[in-house]
Amino acid sequence: MRLFAALDLPEEMRDRLAALQAGLPEGRLTTPENLHLTLAFFGEAGAREAEELHAALGRVKAAPFDLWIDGTGAFGGAKPRLLFAAARPNPALARLHEKVEQAGRQAGFPNPAERYRPHVTLKRLHPGEMSAARAARWLEATGAALIGPARIEDFVLFRSTLGHARPVYEPLARYALLG
Ligand code: 2AM
Repeated sequence: MRLFAALDLPEEMRDRLAALQAGLPEGRLTTPENLHLTLAFFGEAGAREAEELHAALGRVKAAPFDLWIDGTGAFGGAKPRLLFAAARPNPALARLHEKVEQAGRQAGFPNPAERYRPHVTLKRLHPGEMSAARAARWLEATGAALIGPARIEDFVLFRSTLGHARPVYEPLARYALLG
């Protein structure tokens, strides 16, 4: 199974994030129920590794916090491949991310080399689906979006199944933030 840890976003925030998708080409838009903010991607795991990860995540101690979405962005530069809503930089979110990655390491999942950029994926793009100019227009139209605060009091271990049309994200366990 493919595993990742993420923040489950409140419905009101997901509705407002979905509104940012207006004007985007239709394919591969993240559906409202799938909108989430990944803390760490662990990748493939067997049952035993998943159990170890679950135990390590259960030992994470972090405080609840307010999440804000502040603007949008694109990965891929001149050839955008993914459009996202960005989390406003937040020390509590950064600490939670660190601790979740640390739990992953304890359970034997190596951390990725790339820098963590907390985001909510709104759309994945096929090559050439949107020109850089059109993506820039969307970024300009949505760049000032400010959404929040959402009170974050837990995080979730998800299993991702890559389906034909869209991935299915199934919550496996929920971990309270108790401070
Ligand atoms: P993304 O939306 O930016 O692609 C489930 O796939 C979640 O884990 C997604 O939010 C995805 O982020 C994130 N993720 C991070 N690294 C990943 C990877 N190497 N492969 C797939 N998903 C990854």
